[in-house]
Amino acid sequence: MKLKGKVAIVTGGASGIGEATVRLFAAEGARVLIADRSALGKKLARELVENGYDAHDCEIDVSREDDVRNVIDQVVSRFGRLDIMVANAGIAHPSSPVEDVGIEQWQQMMDINLTGVFLSNKLAIAQMRKQGSGGAIVNMASVLGHVGMTGAASYNAAKGGVVNLTRSLGVAYAKHGIRVNAVCPGFVETPLIDRATGELRTRLVAAHPIGRLGQAAEVAKAVLFLASDDASFVVGTSLLVDGGYCAQ
Ligand SMILES: NC(=O)c1ccc[n+]([C@@H]2O[C@H](COP(=O)([O-])OP(=O)(O)OC[C@H]3O[C@@H](n4cnc5c(N)ncnc54)[C@H](O)[C@@H]3O)[C@@H](O)[C@H]2O)c1
Repeated sequence: MKLKGKVAIVTGGASGIGEATVRLFAAEGARVLIADRSALGKKLARELVENGYDAHDCEIDVSREDDVRNVIDQVVSRFGRLDIMVANAGIAHPSSPVEDVGIEQWQQMMDINLTGVFLSNKLAIAQMRKQGSGGAIVNMASVLGHVGMTGAASYNAAKGGVVNLTRSLGVAYAKHGIRVNAVCPGFVETPLIDRATGELRTRLVAAHPIGRLGQAAEVAKAVLFLASDDASFVVGTSLLVDGGYCAQ
């Protein structure tokens, strides 16, 4: 019960890595709010409640400041506090040379994968500072925030932004007891990479020295570590959970 009594928001918690994080947090004693633009969040919350866990949901778009503010207000009015924010919601676009990336596509990537993280951090930090008892923020970056990949310019740029935003906020708020960190997964079996089949999938597997893709539950364990007191001296880091992708 590493999160007993803690109040957590997981953005993008309805699917994939976010869903695995929600399930693990609930099992570790947290009261969890699933904040996702998909109605699947409601289904997951209902299932968890039926199994005796404390889970709720709220439909939001993380790129809208009012939506993020609303979800934090909901948590605070229900539980009186916010201890953990997992800024996980994200999208991926099909591989494309940068010459073919339209401004709308670039902007959508920035809005969700970078601005969404900025808003989730900004508003969670404001709430945690008001409470005055610290907190933990875990941002979902990627190996592609550390190294480039052909055809992924906007995703690379957004995730690189998340890595350095995490450093910036980690440095700024450590003295307030708010630890900001990130997880950088390699390629993980979730609906996000459903499009990666055939030869592309074979290449992705081969890029991981461990010889396979990751599982969402393996990433969730790293999120749990950074969100819990086990990581009490960890600040501003980007933890690679990548089967060796970046080690070569
Ligand atoms: N799967 C991978 O290989 C991989 C690797 C590295 C990093 N990541 C990152 O992990 C995070 C989770 O991805 P996943 O693989 O679990 O994907 P997923 O598609 O299974 O889950 C993403 C969730 O985010 C939600 N979402 C998307 N846009 C949103 C928005 N604007 N507002 C609110 N919710 C929104 C979706 O509805 C979905 O439930 C993303 O940030 C992704 O970039 C994934």
